[in-house]
Amino acid sequence: MTIISPSVLSADFSDLKGEIEHLNNSKAEWVHFDVMDGHFVPNLTFGPDILKVFEKHCNKKLDVHIMVSNPMKVVDYFKKNNVYMMTFHVEAVGDNTLIPVIEKCRLNGFKVGISIKPNTRCEELLGILDKVDMVLVMSVEPGFGGQKFMPNSLEKLDWLHEYREEHGLKYLLEIDGGINQETGRQAVKHHCDVLVAGSYIFKHPEGIEAGVESLL
Ligand code: DX5
Ligand code: ZN
Repeated sequence: MTIISPSVLSADFSDLKGEIEHLNNSKAEWVHFDVMDGHFVPNLTFGPDILKVFEKHCNKKLDVHIMVSNPMKVVDYFKKNNVYMMTFHVEAVGDNTLIPVIEKCRLNGFKVGISIKPNTRCEELLGILDKVDMVLVMSVEPGFGGQKFMPNSLEKLDWLHEYREEHGLKYLLEIDGGINQETGRQAVKHHCDVLVAGSYIFKHPEGIEAGVESLL
């Protein structure tokens, strides 16, 4: 069964409580937070405080995607949050910092995801694929919602799936950016386990619940 992770970036912040109620009534299992620092990506979003609101009112698992230059520091800002999955970018850290960031996430009680931007090759992840719980393939340049899906991400899903089969690994495959009914279906065909969708779900003409359902 595919896991749906609606991206809060596209929520109506003037009615966050209403949006959370719709999420609670939907078949989404996770909810996705795009944490941006204005440096790793050209946009700024939110931090631990907004997660607290969801911890209190939302019954979904918190899927946190940090698009920041200093994950080593930032993962600790979420120490007191009930994060389920913490995903950081391989491009943000040097080879020597990869494992320490993973260890820090584990110490904080988080599952760990590693993400690659559209121009980063899967091979960059060799050496840590046996140490993560999830790989997030970005299907747009990170920074903004509402962009167009980049189809080269499908080949990456295939590559990562083959690798996990060959090596008996269990990491999940997540895709993020430009997901709608059509691109979501393609991603699932290419072995994707978790679909992140922002604008498609939150701006769905029949509402959030229907948007989620249509991706299943
Ligand atoms: C982009 C974010 C995405 C974004 C997806 O940097 O990582 O999670 O919210 O938005 P849509 O689904 O609208 O492309
Ligand atoms: Zn994201």
